[in-house]
Amino acid sequence: MKAQKVQFTETVLRDANQSLIATRLPYDKFDGILEEMDKAGYYSIECWGGATFDSCLRFLNEDPWERLRKIRKKVKNTKLQMLLRGQNLLGYRHYPDDVVKMFVKKSVENGIDIIRIFDALNDTIASGAISYTTSPVHTLDNFVGVASEMKEMGVSTICIKDMAGVMGPQECYDLVKALKEKVGLPVVLHTHCTTGLAFITYLKGIEAGADVIDTASSAFSGGTSQPATETLVYALRELGYDCVADADVMKKVNDFFKPIRNDFIADGTLMPLAMVTDTDALNYKVPGGMLSNLFSQLKQQNALDRLNQVLEEIPRVREDLGYPPLVTPMSQMVGVQATQNVLLGERYKSIGKEVKAYLHGEYGRAPGKVNPELVKKALGEEKPIECRFADTLKPSFEKTKKELSSTAKSDEDVLSYIAFPQVAEKFFEERRKKEENVVSYTIEAVTE
Ligand code: CO
Repeated sequence: MKAQKVQFTETVLRDANQSLIATRLPYDKFDGILEEMDKAGYYSIECWGGATFDSCLRFLNEDPWERLRKIRKKVKNTKLQMLLRGQNLLGYRHYPDDVVKMFVKKSVENGIDIIRIFDALNDTIASGAISYTTSPVHTLDNFVGVASEMKEMGVSTICIKDMAGVMGPQECYDLVKALKEKVGLPVVLHTHCTTGLAFITYLKGIEAGADVIDTASSAFSGGTSQPATETLVYALRELGYDCVADADVMKKVNDFFKPIRNDFIADGTLMPLAMVTDTDALNYKVPGGMLSNLFSQLKQQNALDRLNQVLEEIPRVREDLGYPPLVTPMSQMVGVQATQNVLLGERYKSIGKEVKAYLHGEYGRAPGKVNPELVKKALGEEKPIECRFADTLKPSFEKTKKELSSTAKSDEDVLSYIAFPQVAEKFFEERRKKEENVVSYTIEAVTE
């Protein structure tokens, strides 16, 4: 019998970068390894989207579109992959359809091959990624149903996205098997090492027939990141799987990233806490990132002693909201509301703006039944909308383009602005100053 083929998506430039060092990896640091990475045999390189877009503009003073074009220029053969939060694009609110279409069109024009689309509510916008979570409504049948809808919409692969690293090996086995049998598309696995389950979960997923796994070059693996690429190639080969991978090239890639990782440890960007195994998420079903946010929130309010109460309140809030998976933006919403409920001494004494919008239907359909009393309390006489929220939004691309006039030099600039107005504005201003400096410098040079 022919050995089962396993392929790898390398996440060092996006998810590993985001999970371990808050997306602070500048383009110049990895420019030198891109051509080598192109030879490793990866199924794809995840390099754009997620928080990279925001981080380029906000912290790194880089044009995210230019970053993508530069990567494309060096990575000529391997597929480039991005992560897109459905109708939220790379931001935290719903954008009108014309903006979403333009954003996707420009992403592809600038070099993206694979767009992994997910939605926190598994609303079928055009998703290819299932946000994995456990709850009374997230059954095997429910996941198969979501994946079947995606297939009808024309997606070519289904990704099981376990952002909290809480998917156990048997759960993974059963889900992959069901998807392979009933949906019949290639299955991609995505998880994080946070709770320590990742390696064994991947193995059982592959035994059930998974086709691609998300891994990170070992220097940027483990902890809150993905499991190590080279380790899995080594182990899976030993088990007789046909790994599509050049281990020598992968070693070079890792050798390149190791000193960079060490620099980030030395300057404190990569914190020891991001690299440890933390099994709390298995008990609380709360993603690691959300847990560390809760710590700092409560610490700021001098209320760390209420942590256990908040952790008990989170599942209750989640139930009231119809069991949304705890992924951006739902994780923030549920975390803040649960904290408020505990600290104010009365549940829903104050209801967050985002939670109200969610109950109004502005984030899509809730997976399960929402608590009707909470809806009444939050919305009063107003009724939740029945249609897709995006259908109520006016087109805004052309209008914004006109308003920005010469500040935006391209359609890509307009999209950056729509996604992150203040941040983009600041970035454009910095860019203008830099260009003016170059011009005046050139004139001086000529006169001397
Ligand atoms: Co992830």
